[in-house]
Amino acid sequence: MGLVMIKLYHASKTYDNSVPGLVDISLEIKRGEFVFVSGPSGAGKSTLLKLIYGLELPTKGSLIVNGRNLHKVPRSEVPYLRRRTGFVHQDFRLLVAKSVFENVALALKIRGLPKAEIKTRVMNMLSYLKIQHRANFPPLTLSGGEQQRVAIARALIKEPVILLADEPTGNLDPKLAYNIMDLFKEANSQGTTVIVATHDASIIESYHKRTIYLNKGRVVEQ
Ligand SMILES: Nc1ncnc2c1ncn2[C@@H]1O[C@H](COP(=O)(O)OP(=O)(O)OP(=O)(O)O)[C@@H](O)[C@H]1O
Ligand SMILES: [Mg+2]
Repeated sequence: MGLVMIKLYHASKTYDNSVPGLVDISLEIKRGEFVFVSGPSGAGKSTLLKLIYGLELPTKGSLIVNGRNLHKVPRSEVPYLRRRTGFVHQDFRLLVAKSVFENVALALKIRGLPKAEIKTRVMNMLSYLKIQHRANFPPLTLSGGEQQRVAIARALIKEPVILLADEPTGNLDPKLAYNIMDLFKEANSQGTTVIVATHDASIIESYHKRTIYLNKGRVVEQ
């Protein structure tokens, strides 16, 4: 039995307008696991990923990520915890005033890597995702599927300990979708704990991984 990477214990998240995002969730994800989170629209998939990334706190119960109780981590420390966590937002959240290259390079710059190494690593990643020709463009000039791949590149370039991907293949054609999933699988085989939120049943069926099904904020099956 591996070490626990993520543990939710009777965790709920109620949004300000009293909408229940998640209701009484208890679950564990082990270091090195590959897990799908599925369920219908509004089930709480994005909410679960946002909690794990520290974008939201549970309004009840507890959440431990990589040994840290997120209720006890000072807000000023959260950016440090995120340095080794990749997050692919459902709506990309790219920095619109920066180029594609700069979006992907940022995490490595913060880490203080030499310029030449950053360039090699970023261009390799962009090439693998077939968007190297877009490196110097601003994100909003790209198609939805291209922007999605920039968001994926930005998460993977961190060589994350935890990778959280929210509907990462929603805008991609099937071939690209499977390429991306294979990339996640490769990161997983290098030790990254991977959590993918998707309602794409064909992807879930292809990968034979643990799948947590949510409905109306509750775990209905795992
Ligand atoms: N910022 C917010 N403020 C208020 N309510 C929210 C907020 N974000 C999500 N919710 C609500 O929480 C519930 C769960 O939303 P969530 O985005 O987690 O679902 P989801 O499973 O990711 O859905 P989808 O498949 O459409 O992406 C929904 O009822 C939603 O309306
Ligand atoms: Mg969502």
